[in-house]
Amino acid sequence: MRKRIAAANWKMNLNAEQALALTSELVQITRDEYHGNGEIILAPSFPYLSLVQHLIKDAKGFFLSAQNMHQEEGGAYTGEVAAAMLTSVGATHCILGHSERRQYFGEDEALLAKKTDKALAHGLKPIFCVGETLSEREAGETFSVVERHLSGGLFHLDADQFANVVIAYEPVWAIGTGKTASPAQAQEVHQYLRGLIAARYSAAVADDTSILYGGSVKADNAVELFGQPDIDGGLVGGASLKSREFAEIIKALG
Ligand code: PGA
Repeated sequence: MRKRIAAANWKMNLNAEQALALTSELVQITRDEYHGNGEIILAPSFPYLSLVQHLIKDAKGFFLSAQNMHQEEGGAYTGEVAAAMLTSVGATHCILGHSERRQYFGEDEALLAKKTDKALAHGLKPIFCVGETLSEREAGETFSVVERHLSGGLFHLDADQFANVVIAYEPVWAIGTGKTASPAQAQEVHQYLRGLIAARYSAAVADDTSILYGGSVKADNAVELFGQPDIDGGLVGGASLKSREFAEIIKALG
């Protein structure tokens, strides 16, 4: 069954005290006010994974994600973090292929395919991001770009492996800009992605895949976005840094 998901990508923000306060507030507000079955995934920076895990481990529907990981098993890779380290502190998910990683750290499909394999081998579910830049959209390349991201990073997986992947469609021009894709624009791409998954695997696999929208999701646009038939929730940056705002986004999952 397809899951409804609100994922918080805190990026390189917050100090430890702020991360703890935000997590505690979210746990409390959702316990009091959210009664749905959606999953709430928090993706703090590496230093706070354990801290956050301690606060969410008994909270219904909460999961822990990293924002990135290294593709190798372990060893002499100074400054890097391995999948086994993430699971050892309770992470269940890892964001992979975020456009900021693609843009600033040169991550491409070949590397992301390796990261995906390593994550899955350790039982970590990838939240795999795809999305076009503004110039690609204006050049009419949106579908071909998301197809390249999806197939290059994920379509080597078999259906059982693919069942553990969450997709996030994040148009780069909408990330952190306040310019959200309209619900219709987002739905069009989500539907296209689901069609690609159906063609590669099966209609049943496609129907079971959670496809999140990311890019300036806010409390006041989440209901309409999440109401689209192929949008199963959101990957949220800026608006996930405020407990009240993110709680409203969680409630929009229904
Ligand atoms: P934003 O970021 O919500 O601040 O646009 C989304 C993301 O990059 O995942």
